[in-house]
Amino acid sequence: MQRFHIAVIAGDGVGLEVIPQARRVLEKIGRRYALEFAFYDFEWGSEYYFRHGRMMPADALEQLRPLDAILLGAVGHPEIPDHVTLNGLLLPIRRAFDQYANVRPARLYRGVQSPLALRKGEQIDFVVVRENTEGEYAQVGGFVHHDQPEEIAVQSAVFTRRGIERVVRFAFELARRRNGKQRVTSVTKSNAQGFGMVLWDRTFAAVANEFPDISTESLLVDAAAMNFIRRPESFDVVVASNLFGDILSDISAILVGSMGLAPSANLDPERRYPSMFEPVHGSAPDIAGKGVVNPLATILSAAMMLDHLEASEAAQSVERAVAAVLAERHVRTPDLGGTSSTEEVTNAVLDSIVL
Ligand SMILES: NC(=O)c1ccc[n+]([C@@H]2O[C@H](COP(=O)([O-])OP(=O)(O)OC[C@H]3O[C@@H](n4cnc5c(N)ncnc54)[C@H](O)[C@@H]3O)[C@@H](O)[C@H]2O)c1
Repeated sequence: MQRFHIAVIAGDGVGLEVIPQARRVLEKIGRRYALEFAFYDFEWGSEYYFRHGRMMPADALEQLRPLDAILLGAVGHPEIPDHVTLNGLLLPIRRAFDQYANVRPARLYRGVQSPLALRKGEQIDFVVVRENTEGEYAQVGGFVHHDQPEEIAVQSAVFTRRGIERVVRFAFELARRRNGKQRVTSVTKSNAQGFGMVLWDRTFAAVANEFPDISTESLLVDAAAMNFIRRPESFDVVVASNLFGDILSDISAILVGSMGLAPSANLDPERRYPSMFEPVHGSAPDIAGKGVVNPLATILSAAMMLDHLEASEAAQSVERAVAAVLAERHVRTPDLGGTSSTEEVTNAVLDSIVL
């Protein structure tokens, strides 16, 4: 029996509804593959903020550090500015644990309708790898003449050769492992961002030389946004800066039918620290508490966690169960045009996992 110690931060809104569903799936899959999960619940997020004036305690990172992985629901509350929730919880975890590769798969499952009219036989199956620790989200800058008419805000993007090189190398290695189209697309805006993004382009070209078996493509972000819609089937692994990866992966999430189907992993590929697994979607206050949130993005994120923990057979089994439920088209939440509840969808996934 292999035992894993998992930090669970359900967070806010629908996070509180999807996390228990992912746990049910992990518990069942654990029985099949002799995996045991010790879950440690951390009740951090917006309610914690209302009581303590911060999103998580001062020693939060120390509490998380010894654990094997972090499973996160979502954070965000209509009464707290989003930059407070993001900078108070998610970003410090991503940075402190050097989770530099944010991996966001976009796979169109059989039985799910893409908003695009795809040509017959066309598949969408690619991964966006977003740099997750620097770039435009480095929080370097400040205000001058605060709240005055002449107020100035300066916000700098920070690109380091080391930071670019390691995430680009991760993208090439992923393209090899996926063994799909064997192609890496780099996305920048180096015509207008003449320093950081030029360093990115140069570094991408240098790393590409180490992977002669993988084909490459470089796109400006505006062209990439267009091509995600025009030829989504052509992509395999896409690597982009923090901001561009954030935006493009919302496009890719909706291309495959719903935000409720988009999982993600924040990885420290060197495994020095716990990695974090979370759905791409936020706390969805418009549907929170109604029991209709789609749990599949979180269940697929838990599968990514299993894969990272080197329980890859268990991970594939979860993914197959999700694919089977979607292919049957019977049990699905309203975001996919169904009438089922969150719990009913999870029940169907559990039924598809054969013990
Ligand atoms: N990683 C995170 O924790 C994260 C990510 C994005 C947004 N947020 C926060 O979440 C809050 C709400 O943000 P938002 O409304 O822009 O984005 P959102 O992802 O929460 O919701 C966008 C839309 O998609 C729908 N949706 C999202 N997930 C769904 C699911 N699993 N099933 C069915 N429908 C789903 C919502 O109902 C909503 O209409 C904000 O406070 C924001 O800062 C947090």
